[in-house]
Amino acid sequence: MPLEHIIVEQEPPVGIIRINRPKVLNALNFHLIREIVETLEAFDKDDGLKVTVLTGNDDAFSAGADIKELSEATPVELIKRNQFALWDRMKKISKPIIGAVSGYALGGGCELAMACDIIIASETAKFGQPEINIGIMPGAGGTQRLTRALGKYRAMEMILTGQHITAREAEKHGLVNRVVPVESYYQEAKKLARQIADKGPIATRLAKDAILKAFETGLDEGLQFERRNFYLLFSTEDMKEGMQAFIDKRSAQFKGR
Ligand code: CAA
Repeated sequence: MPLEHIIVEQEPPVGIIRINRPKVLNALNFHLIREIVETLEAFDKDDGLKVTVLTGNDDAFSAGADIKELSEATPVELIKRNQFALWDRMKKISKPIIGAVSGYALGGGCELAMACDIIIASETAKFGQPEINIGIMPGAGGTQRLTRALGKYRAMEMILTGQHITAREAEKHGLVNRVVPVESYYQEAKKLARQIADKGPIATRLAKDAILKAFETGLDEGLQFERRNFYLLFSTEDMKEGMQAFIDKRSAQFKGR
């Protein structure tokens, strides 16, 4: 099916997804989320692509769920549509996703940014969960991921007041990796993507997997999981190549095997 709401580009080894509903500040409708998730799944299967950059435009990463679409919804329709199953599929993507965020990242837009593995923000980025202002609450992970990123007290204030925070505040409190000028956030995200793409893809995948486990398990179980992934890497050609390259004083040529 042709893509209606996103623009997809490939600059191997980097895949790029650009949210493209500028007239509504990249508001997220059901089809848009489906397009993002299906594209991420296709990138995940493509050996030529190692990292994805997910972005919007300079004014808006995304201003959240499409309120016009949501305003018509009944609980039964929401259950039938099962939109959050799409978000759960995004959690299963094995390659790293870098959010390149400028302008508004609100509601579902903030949740989409937080579903990325790394966030590069422009100086103009604004993060918030303003759902409370329209009589609802975050539904795509905001209460969980914002709380894990900022701690209970800041998350509570943001979600209960609906107020935005600036990119600099987000950086100070650990919600984003770094803040750069609006002219360079997208290039910076692609540069970082290429840097990660140079590493062994199996090690990258298993390391991402283990880091995400830290949010789901206690320390002991997480350490066991990490150890298993660590041992597994000693069965790869990439491990032999990486160590030999260090000994030979040359750069490693990883093959993902
Ligand atoms: N849904 C649908 N349309 C939206 C939208 C949204 N979330 N956000 C903005 N738009 C539309 C506006 O309706 C407007 O369209 P028209 O030109 O046709 O009137 C256009 O985008 C430009 O928006 P504004 O004129 O409002 O621009 P602004 O610069 O004055 O304000 C803003 C920008 C502060 C982001 C404001 O648009 C806003 O508050 N938007 C809503 C943000 C929000 O509440 N997001 C949460 C949605 S619920 C959610 O996300 C649930 C969940 O967790 C899954």
